[in-house]
Amino acid sequence: MSVSVKSSETFEFTPENLEWAKGQIAKYPEGRQQSAVMPLLTRAQQQNGGWVTVPIMECIADMLDMPYIRVHEVASFYSMYNLKPVGKHVIEVCTTTPCWLRGSDDVVKACKEELGIGFGETTEDGEFTLLEVECAGACVNAPVIAYKEEYYEDLDENSTRAFIRGIKEGKVPAAGPQVNRFKACPMGGPTTLTDYAPADLTSGGDK
Ligand code: FES
Repeated sequence: MSVSVKSSETFEFTPENLEWAKGQIAKYPEGRQQSAVMPLLTRAQQQNGGWVTVPIMECIADMLDMPYIRVHEVASFYSMYNLKPVGKHVIEVCTTTPCWLRGSDDVVKACKEELGIGFGETTEDGEFTLLEVECAGACVNAPVIAYKEEYYEDLDENSTRAFIRGIKEGKVPAAGPQVNRFKACPMGGPTTLTDYAPADLTSGGDK
């Protein structure tokens, strides 16, 4: 016998988000609607100020006809879902081996000193939350911070301090490498197949 105990609070998508969610669910064939669990969790988290509550997971479980615990398993596995309230600005610092080898200790130090908090903590004014995450999948540009669905890459202590101060002043730096290189190209531009490289890359490229 299965026993279902639901929380007393409830969650509802806004009409606009509900329409969007239905569109996501419709992308999957009959019987595979559970595949929409991640986009629905992401949209619900955005609607709820950056974190996922039990009523949210229950609502999504009902919508996708899946056990609540399965939704919780997804939400608790991926670091992009927050299961407790977070600040307005969530700073996720990767400290996995490639980032660590490339200086993530300095990035962590700069974040902690600029914000006055440790990992898993939120500043008293509710502005910043600092999180430690596993590989963000951008190792070639290590070390990396994820912020508002963008990556800030090739960081060092100074550029990390500038990044945090920029957010505080409402002037967020451009995402991507914080050194003079284009995306994941070598510093100073391509070193192979240069005959085929666009002119703006061979001269060093954009940031
Ligand atoms: S180890 Fe940091 S992005 Fe992969």
